Amino acid sequence: MRIEVRLFAGLRELAKQKAVMEDLPSGSTVADVISRLSNRFGQEFQKQVMGERGQPSELLRILVNGRNIASLEGVETRLKDGDVLAMFPPVAGGEMKIASYNGEDFRIEPDVYEPAEDTFLLAENLDVRRGERTLELGTGCGILAILAAKAGARVTATDINPAALECARANAAAHGVADRIVFHLGDLFEPVAGKRFNLVIFNPPYLPIPDQDSIGTPLDLAWEAGPDGRAVINRFLNELPEHLAPSSRALFVQSSLADVEKTIRALEAKGMRVEIVARRKLSFEELFLLRASASF
Ligand SMILES: C[S@@+](CC[C@H](N)C(=O)[O-])C[C@H]1O[C@@H](n2cnc3c(N)ncnc32)[C@H](O)[C@@H]1O
Repeated sequence: MRIEVRLFAGLRELAKQKAVMEDLPSGSTVADVISRLSNRFGQEFQKQVMGERGQPSELLRILVNGRNIASLEGVETRLKDGDVLAMFPPVAGGEMKIASYNGEDFRIEPDVYEPAEDTFLLAENLDVRRGERTLELGTGCGILAILAAKAGARVTATDINPAALECARANAAAHGVADRIVFHLGDLFEPVAGKRFNLVIFNPPYLPIPDQDSIGTPLDLAWEAGPDGRAVINRFLNELPEHLAPSSRALFVQSSLADVEKTIRALEAKGMRVEIVARRKLSFEELFLLRASASF
């Protein structure tokens, strides 16, 4: 029996992983597949997906052929040859976490994106200057907006997820920069209609997710980006020029999973200069940090 398994979210290294389980005895259950995956991916998988007693975590979400099955009761579901099993390991799973960057701590509330390699690639290359009007789209826990504010920028930060904004506000207060960041709930540039900035930063969702696998909770929207991974980035690129002041720039993350070349061509077609500022190879993708400069 052959089952295709897609693992999303949770551990960055496991995210987007597509595993094919061959030679499963006919009549195998979801639990059998989980146990094989644990053998394949080892301790980290165990930690993320399995609970303390070797049972799948209550928070694990499992889909069989796009149909949501309740986590623990669903593990006894029998699979048929050719089934597609999608698994969403818990991420912020109900508990508050702390992310540390350069010795500084940021609270990550449940349902808020936990800073990862993409966040840190941007953080390490955040060349913001004092006094610059800076916009961060999709601020998550606020880490990048806070780093920009600490560097002296006047920051506007948005997110579509109310839990993210609440978390970011709390972090901004804890870091003593609440008066230097204005937060807005909303979709992309919608909360800053008619406004222009010296710097726009964005770590967008870019994980290709077929429509039938989309979960669409506020947390899932941190990475789900349509079948080609470009649902959010295409809209961002279209609207970006209207929000750039003269001689300004945008600094944003792209992944090899979502056609970086297409992004570069789209920006060049708008008369912008594009450079790859940094890149980082991970197991299943390569991350790129792009800088697009306005030539107007
Ligand atoms: C990959 S996370 C990045 C979070 C944070 N900036 C970081 O680097 O850790 C993407 C963020 O964008 C937000 N987001 C997704 N779609 C959005 C949209 N259309 N408009 C505004 N924010 C959006 C998500 O809620 C999430 O917080």
